Amino acid sequence: MAPTSTCLAFLVMLALWSCSAASRGVLLNDVEITMLARHEQWMYLHGRVYKDATEKEKRFNVFKENVKYIEQFNKGGNQPYKLSVNEFADLTNEEFKATRNGYKGLCLEDKLARATAPSTFKYENVSAVPSTMDWRKKGVVTPVKDQGQCGCCWAFSAVAATEGIHKLKTGKLISLSEQELVDCDTKGVDQGCEGGLMDDAFHFIMSNKGLDTEINYPYKGVDGTCNAKKASTHAAQITGFEDVPANSEAALLKAVASQPVSVAIDAGGSDFQFYSSGVFTGSCGTDLDHGVTAVGYGVSNDGMKYWLVKNSWGTSWGESGYIRMQRGVDAKEGLCGIAMEASYPTA
Ligand SMILES: *[C@@H]1O[C@H](CO)[C@@H](O)[C@H](O)[C@H]1NC(C)=O
Repeated sequence: MAPTSTCLAFLVMLALWSCSAASRGVLLNDVEITMLARHEQWMYLHGRVYKDATEKEKRFNVFKENVKYIEQFNKGGNQPYKLSVNEFADLTNEEFKATRNGYKGLCLEDKLARATAPSTFKYENVSAVPSTMDWRKKGVVTPVKDQGQCGCCWAFSAVAATEGIHKLKTGKLISLSEQELVDCDTKGVDQGCEGGLMDDAFHFIMSNKGLDTEINYPYKGVDGTCNAKKASTHAAQITGFEDVPANSEAALLKAVASQPVSVAIDAGGSDFQFYSSGVFTGSCGTDLDHGVTAVGYGVSNDGMKYWLVKNSWGTSWGESGYIRMQRGVDAKEGLCGIAMEASYPTA
């Protein structure tokens, strides 16, 4: 932020604060004033505008609580990951789940997750896997995208895995269309911004005989009408999809060593909301509510094994849009359920 705009934001804040504080006879201490200034700066940085003073006060209070939580957490010291006051800092965890992960807190229709799943696992006999893998370094991963306030994580997850297998098959990395899935893949379980499943997205791509490019069928972040002409343009095709045997990080490792893999996780916690760097160790449960893509694995400098996961919340979240999630945990489901419902397209 330029010094002048910081200064301006501060002056505006001060003016607003003195009016409202004076009118209500409230005396604010230094901590409160600093927090107000931080909120103003944060609003400026993220282009946040509130509809009225009531909304602003409500948001400020949420912001304040979140900042306290984040700073308390980071002060804890011996955590392998850090949180930050990111663009989601004025949302309660409930609001965050509702707007980011999707309608009613779910962007995955979990109940029917395995309904269409074939049972073969082509990588079952893979014996030697590299000790680390980062598909980004092999040019198999497109830049991080942003689903916005639309619960179509499932489309982003399926598209990233499809982009990966397409590159591995053809040598061409092409950014593909999530919006086509949101608009056109509506006959089965998948319901656009209201949630869906990666497997059903793969099923659509297969039966549609391909998917259009991101450029030709760009992302809007809202449910739309299927553009049949664009949907009949096929930039990438898949022959099918397979599920990684459930609850086995060993099986997931074989798959991720071979190609980017769609995974479902429980991303509903505050620590996930504010994750900024390091190896995420939770807390989280196994209520799968978010679809992302495992694009590698490795071991951190301090010896922690992790999955490298591509998210669809833009590049300001996490490690430039990615999260490293602890790998090789005691629970067979994997951390946040990452090994429960992994799948990948074939080509
Ligand atoms: C794995 O090996 C077994 C035993 O040789 C074989 O029956 C099975 O078909 C193989 N699986 C795959 C996916 O190739």
